[in-house]
Amino acid sequence: RRVTVVGAGNVGMIAAMRLAESAAIDEVVLVDIAGQRAAGIALDLSHSAPILGFSTRIRGVRTLAEAGPSDYVVITAGKARTPGMTRSDLVGVNAGIVGSLVSDAVAVSPDAVFVIVTNPVDEMTEHAWRTSGLPTDRVIGMAGVLDSSRFEALAAQVAGVHPRELTALALGSHGDEMVIPLSQATVAGRSVADRLGSGTVDALVDRARNSGAEVVGLLESGSAFFAPGLSAARMVLAMVNQTGELLTATVSARGQYGIDGGYVGLPVRLDRSGLAEIVEVDLTAAELDDLQTAARHIGDRVGALDG
Ligand code: NAI
Repeated sequence: RRVTVVGAGNVGMIAAMRLAESAAIDEVVLVDIAGQRAAGIALDLSHSAPILGFSTRIRGVRTLAEAGPSDYVVITAGKARTPGMTRSDLVGVNAGIVGSLVSDAVAVSPDAVFVIVTNPVDEMTEHAWRTSGLPTDRVIGMAGVLDSSRFEALAAQVAGVHPRELTALALGSHGDEMVIPLSQATVAGRSVADRLGSGTVDALVDRARNSGAEVVGLLESGSAFFAPGLSAARMVLAMVNQTGELLTATVSARGQYGIDGGYVGLPVRLDRSGLAEIVEVDLTAAELDDLQTAARHIGDRVGALDG
């Protein structure tokens, strides 16, 4: 199998490293418009094969045509936030980049599944799908894996447990309308809200929601990339390996959760050909309401993008 990662920047290179370690992937191709950057990153990464113990081929090129047909295309190309910017500030410039890359990628890889990472990811995923002409099942955005991991990591520290003891979903938008339903958040099988208390857990939800900005503020140039790159790779690996695990991803709802059409973060299962299933979990009325509000707001922003 071949995975093409478009954008050999911070997020793309971490995703590529993780994917290269998978024995199920034959080749990872990095694509970047900037000089010979993709070739340089690919060469450097290939030198780590004996250390990490992989035999996956790595190539770095400048165009999707040179990359050749792929089974999965991960789009991380575009501008990232700098301090003081919201993700929405990126919309104009990144929509142009994502749109043209998706057109090029579909021409070369008409059967690929697309994972969109570029921000603002909810709007970029819908924009990518519209540009692609593909079924919605094959154009999926990455946000929920990252946002739930952030909450789980923060809550595990406070609870003093291994992060794997935490389970949580992060739904809605990758931004202010992120919904982390406490009805679904557990630590060692018990409600996180019961274990940590509602004041503490509400603060953790807020911190998870603002984690992207917190990292941007510390880095001063560029935005988070370890957890984002690994999250994108996790989605591809869930598909390639057909793990069937419950993840959250930005997908197009067809009536689930009372949302009909439009991309929003929901619980899903993925398989080799993309979205296998949107999983309906039991949310409280307030959580459902927040999720529907997020979907409506994303829809409004997508409408503004097209208008
Ligand atoms: P970066 O600036 O390190 O890398 C972006 C790369 O894209 C650069 O190397 C640039 O040369 C390349 N690029 C730009 N236009 C291109 C084109 N037309 N064709 C090929 N390559 C092109 O940025 P970073 O940190 O890797 O972030 C990438 C994107 O991912 C940003 O939009 C960022 O906001 C987003 N992001 C999304 C997250 C999510 O949860 N969905 C989390 C973290 C970042």
